[in-house]
Amino acid sequence: MTAMLADPAHDDLLPAGLLDFLCSATPDAWVDWALANPEVLLIDHAQCEKKAASTAMSLLYRYVDQPLLLTKLSQLAREELLHFEQVVRLMASRGITYRHLSASRYAEGLRRHLRGEEPGRLVDLLIIGALIEARSCERFARLLPHLDDELAKFYRGLVKSEGRHYEDYLMLARRLAPSPIDERIAFLAEREAELITMPDTAFRFHSGVPA
Ligand SMILES: [Fe+2]
Ligand SMILES: [Fe+2]
Repeated sequence: MTAMLADPAHDDLLPAGLLDFLCSATPDAWVDWALANPEVLLIDHAQCEKKAASTAMSLLYRYVDQPLLLTKLSQLAREELLHFEQVVRLMASRGITYRHLSASRYAEGLRRHLRGEEPGRLVDLLIIGALIEARSCERFARLLPHLDDELAKFYRGLVKSEGRHYEDYLMLARRLAPSPIDERIAFLAEREAELITMPDTAFRFHSGVPA
C-alpha cells in the first residue's frame, strides 16, 4: 500500500488552527512506514495512550493549586486510559501480542527543552502536551484513508478526542502563563517538526522518517 498526498477530505476533522500550530505536516514516508508496520503501529499506539494518561496524572500530582488544570487533565487522563483499553482490545482481536517496545526519541527530544524554573516549566509542559496531542491527531487523520473499516472508525473517533486534548492543553498553557507564549510555542513547534521529519532508526507512532 502506498500513501497518497494528504487527503483534504480529512482535514475538516481537525480543529481549526491545528495544522498551523504544527510547523510541518507528517511526511508521506512516515505514512508508508506505518502501513508497512501494522503491528508495531498498534503496540506503540497503546504505549502512547498509556503514557498520555500518566503524563496527565503526573501534572495532577505536581500542580494541585491549579483547579482548571485538575479538572481538564483528570478528564483527559480518563479518556487516554479508555483509548488504551480500546487499542489493547483491538490488538487482542487481531492476534497481536502486546510486547515491550523501546520508546522513540520524540517525547524525550521535546522534554530536554523544558525550563527548570516555574512558571516556565509548567508552561513548557503544557505546550509540549499540546504538540504531542496535535501531532497524534494529525497522524490519525493522515492514516484514515489507508485503514480497514474497523480501524478507520476507531481512529476517526481518536482524531476528535486528541484534537480536543490539543485544544485543552493549549488553552491551559495560555491561561496559566504570566505573559504571551507565542515565541515559546514557535520555538518548541520547530523542535517538534525536526523530530518528526528527520531520519529515524525504528518506526514508532511519533518517529521521523526511515533512515
Ligand atoms: Fe488518546
Ligand atoms: Fe490525547
